[in-house]
Parts: sequence; structure tokens; C-alpha cells
Amino acid sequence: MKNQSSPGLLITLEGGEGGGKTTQIVRLRDKLTELGKDVIALREPGGTTVSEQIREVVLSAKNAGMAYTTEVLLFQAARAQIYREIVLPSLAAGKVVLMDRSRDSSVVYQGIVRGFGRELIEQLNNISTKETYPNLTILFDIPVKQGLERVAKAGTANRMEMQGTEFHEKVRKAYLDLAKEDKSGRWQIIDASKSIDEVEKAVWQVVAEKL
Ligand SMILES: Nc1ncnc2c1ncn2[C@@H]1O[C@H](COP(=O)(O)OP(=O)(O)O)[C@@H](O)[C@H]1O
Ligand SMILES: [Mg+2]
Repeated sequence: MKNQSSPGLLITLEGGEGGGKTTQIVRLRDKLTELGKDVIALREPGGTTVSEQIREVVLSAKNAGMAYTTEVLLFQAARAQIYREIVLPSLAAGKVVLMDRSRDSSVVYQGIVRGFGRELIEQLNNISTKETYPNLTILFDIPVKQGLERVAKAGTANRMEMQGTEFHEKVRKAYLDLAKEDKSGRWQIIDASKSIDEVEKAVWQVVAEKL
């Protein structure tokens, strides 16, 4: 496994629902911009015209009948597009690329929790990303109940968030296992149960080390 070796920096925000990834990516982008960094913030699935259309299909609560295999391939299709259109050119140009979810979400949700296997999903990830791994992956770890309460309060549950508690417990454990087994040193686990400002500080601490 290699980290991407282009001049840019790829940072991914990962974890289950309600950890604050979407909240913190904005703060992180603004802070890096203030420091004069050329930074771009993206979300997966999404981030390009094609990928946002795929996002709509894959996350819509209307599509409860979607086959797991369809889900696997749609996530990868959206990923292939965003890496070719934005991520890889941006890294080559030396930018800091922040991503709200990327390859590890597929490993956790489809590979481990849905049972397609890590190896298969990593093979697909490598096709989609041209074998690009993040320089830093921040795991927003939070107890399932607390994360789901935050999401419920916001009232924006999507197809993934509508799964039962057991599903989310598996997601949490799968992420923690990945982070702990990793030998590349790219994973950092942060306690996402704290306040927004405290989480922001924790995020900044691990990002600053990579700048
Ligand atoms: N540290 C925090 N404490 C309390 N509420 C939070 C915190 N971080 C985010 N939230 C709120 O919880 C909800 C989910 O946060 P979000 O950033 O969308 O998480 P994620 O993208 O990881 O699912 C949002 O309504 C957000 O405002
Ligand atoms: Mg989010």
C-alpha cells in the first residue's frame, strides 16, 4: 500500500453518521485557506456533475430496494469520476484536497458490513482512484447512539442513516479495526463525541502535523 506521492496532500474524513465530518470539513477548509493553502473540499459520493447525480440515486430514501451489488458499483462509479476529474489533477497541481468520505467508506460499508470482502473492494478502489491512498485519514469516532441522535435532530436521514443500530455498531467497529490494523500510519482516531470546537481542535492537531 502506498500513499499518494504527488505534490499535493490528500486528507480524508471518515466515520459513521453524526461524527461531524461535514461540519468540520468546512472549518478545516477555511482555516487552511486563511493560511494561504490552495485547498479544495469535496464529498463522496458527489463532487462533480456526474457524481452528484449518482449520489442522488445511491442515497435517496426512495431507493430502499437497491441491490447491494448495485450500491457497490455506483459508489465506485462516482469515485472514478471525481478522482479523474478533480482529485488527481488537484493533487498533481499541489493542492490540499479534503474529502468527506472516500475509499475507506467503501471498505467499511460494502467490504466489511455488507460482506463483499475487503480485498474485492480495495481492488475496485484501486481502479477508481488509480491506486491513490490518503496521506491522512481522520476517523471521527463516536458512540452510535450519540451520532444518530445528532443526525435525527438535524432531520436529514438518508438511506444509510435509516439502517438499524446494529448496522451502525458494525460500521463503528469496522472503522476502529481498520485504523488499528493499519501499518501505513495514515490513520488518526479522534473523539468526535466532544463539542464542535473541541473536535475542531483535535482535527487541527493531526492536520498541522502533515503540513
Ligand atoms: N461536536 C458536535 N456536537 C454536537 N453536534 C454536532 C457536533 N458536530 C456536528 N454536530 C451536528 O450533528 C449533526 C451531524 O453532523 P455532521 O457534520 O453532518 O456529521 P457527519 O457528516 O459525520 O454525519 C449536524 O446537525 C451537526 O450540526
Ligand atoms: Mg456528513
